[in-house]
Amino acid sequence: MTKNIAVIRGDGIGPEIVEQALKVLNKIADLYGHTFNYTDVDMGGCAIDKWGNPLPEEMLEKCVESDSVLLGAVGGEKWNNVPGDMRPEKGLLRLRAGMGVYSNNRPAKIWKQLADASPLKKEIVDKGIDFIIVRELIGGIYFGEHTTTEESGEKKAVDVLSYTESEIERIGRIGFETARKRSKRLCSVEKSNVLDSSRLWKSVMHRLAEEYPDVELSDMLVDNCAMQIVKNPSQFDVIVTENMFGDILSDEASMITGSIGMIPSSSLGATSCGLYEPIHGSAPDIAGMDIANPIGTILSAAMMLRYSFDMPKEADAIENAVSAVLDEGFRTADIMSDGCKKVGCSEMGKLIISKLERK
Ligand code: IPM
Ligand code: MG
Repeated sequence: MTKNIAVIRGDGIGPEIVEQALKVLNKIADLYGHTFNYTDVDMGGCAIDKWGNPLPEEMLEKCVESDSVLLGAVGGEKWNNVPGDMRPEKGLLRLRAGMGVYSNNRPAKIWKQLADASPLKKEIVDKGIDFIIVRELIGGIYFGEHTTTEESGEKKAVDVLSYTESEIERIGRIGFETARKRSKRLCSVEKSNVLDSSRLWKSVMHRLAEEYPDVELSDMLVDNCAMQIVKNPSQFDVIVTENMFGDILSDEASMITGSIGMIPSSSLGATSCGLYEPIHGSAPDIAGMDIANPIGTILSAAMMLRYSFDMPKEADAIENAVSAVLDEGFRTADIMSDGCKKVGCSEMGKLIISKLERK
């Protein structure tokens, strides 16, 4: 098969982790007889420096025209003082909206080899951690109006949080469908004791539940959910939640699995053209030092093969190679523990490639 992939290296550690993921994809192409064509796309801080805009229109077009997009990370201190709507992160939000990828899937699964890297007690980890956060990605407070005004001599900032029924319904369906393919338990997370948008969220979820009688729906307030994720993570299978709650809970969930550097994500909308990115940020403090963990990006490339290109064997090959390298005790700094062998970003990439095989 031939696939055209738009590649956004981005800022900070973005270029080095993406480099490793592309090498993995090239090896997969060799092994399985595919052709992957790459188109470079500028987004984030590097695009601000080059084009004065975190996502110029023609860059968005390249993404929309591709078969899928692979992204490293964007942002950094250098651009902290640019106006809000010109920040690197705004490029990412515009990309997600422009591609229409409303459903962000973030797995929180502990690799057995990394159980020691989890900050949770062994007896909690031993009960198992394997759930998915389905995060609404192009609505809510990140996309509401943002204004800062001055009233009676002091500044006032407002960010609007709104959801329509149809926005909630389409992500709710993804939640139910995802649960249907797993253990058929869906937990809808909101703040309905305070927010109108959450009360609407909850009522739409319950209306949808009638169409999915085989799925058991439960509700949880977001503050309680934050607590339950560290207290008893094995209770969760699929969590569906709005944009900001999903952003926060997915960072928390990643940490209990050992490191945010391990977690990939997929974002999909109405077509098979998806956006694939690790959930961590651009980590400017370690950029260019060849110590970042490329596994989150490599596993994101595997998700691209699985969910957008219908190449499950190729995706399995990547996941098995990652597992084999972890089995042999190789670790990047973020997942290092006693008795393991510490390697850098490019070395980790090489090791994973050396374990790739066609089955
Ligand atoms: C994420 C990030 C982004 C988000 C930022 C960089 C805009 O935190 O993907 O989780 O908030 O969605
Ligand atoms: Mg985040």
